[in-house]
Amino acid sequence: MIIAVSGKGGTGKTTLASLVVRYLIRGGETPILAVDADPNSTLAEKLGVVCECTIGDLREEALKTKYDAPAGTPKHQAIEYAVQQAVVEGRGFDLLVMGRGEGPGCYCSVNNMLRAFLHNLSSNYKHVVIDNEAGIEHLSRRTDDKVDVMLVVGDQTPAGLKSAQRIAELVTSLELVRGKTWLVLNRTDDVSADTAAITGLDLLGCVPDDENVREFELRGEPLLNLPDDSSAVKAMNKLLDRIREA
Ligand SMILES: Nc1ncnc2c1ncn2[C@@H]1O[C@H](COP(=O)(O)OP(=O)(O)OP(=O)(O)O)[C@@H](O)[C@H]1O
Ligand SMILES: [Mg+2]
Repeated sequence: MIIAVSGKGGTGKTTLASLVVRYLIRGGETPILAVDADPNSTLAEKLGVVCECTIGDLREEALKTKYDAPAGTPKHQAIEYAVQQAVVEGRGFDLLVMGRGEGPGCYCSVNNMLRAFLHNLSSNYKHVVIDNEAGIEHLSRRTDDKVDVMLVVGDQTPAGLKSAQRIAELVTSLELVRGKTWLVLNRTDDVSADTAAITGLDLLGCVPDDENVREFELRGEPLLNLPDDSSAVKAMNKLLDRIREA
């Protein structure tokens, strides 16, 4: 299953994506590929691993060598090997960091190869969890694979609901999702379904503001180590159980 998390800046995408990874690991739903699709990536930190090479770095490297030969050449294999090297191994999961976007120049052939490799790579995992940058247009450029479940993270303020609505519309128009797109209200205690209905999305549920999450963030400790009785963990686990049962 491919689960993607999107939403406007600072809503808690990376936090909730980390809690999805935590849920899957604890449930024995491995192997998992976590994909950090945000150029200002912080997913590695929240998962407690260190990333040294991003897909963006590889793309720049490939472009510098003026690659234009057809697929199947040794160069093609070299890039495939490099993609494998970019995968960071964690406990129960691997992480791939997309890195920065494209600079000037033609990346078409490189992008086509990368897309094919990423598709093949994803098929090695039981689940893929994607932490998106704020806004989602980049997703359609970087992969051909449709998402099974999209979580749109928002908050209960009118502005927060409005931006969740805009993202939901974009997700629909880009036809990125094969399964269902859900609204998750983060740092929010329960709200009525009517409030959430403004977004046009079904409310999966709310995740409360959790002191432990803030403390772990301050200490730079991986969210995978949050205790089971942490309120955000408990809430996310319940929401993800709902998806599994749906
Ligand atoms: N449920 C929560 N309880 C307490 N703090 C939270 C919660 N969710 C997120 N935070 C805090 O809010 C801040 C933003 O969260 P996060 O980095 O996950 O958002 P984001 O949407 O990924 O941001 P960006 O758009 O910059 O990538 C962080 O400091 C995080 O610790
Ligand atoms: Mg983030």
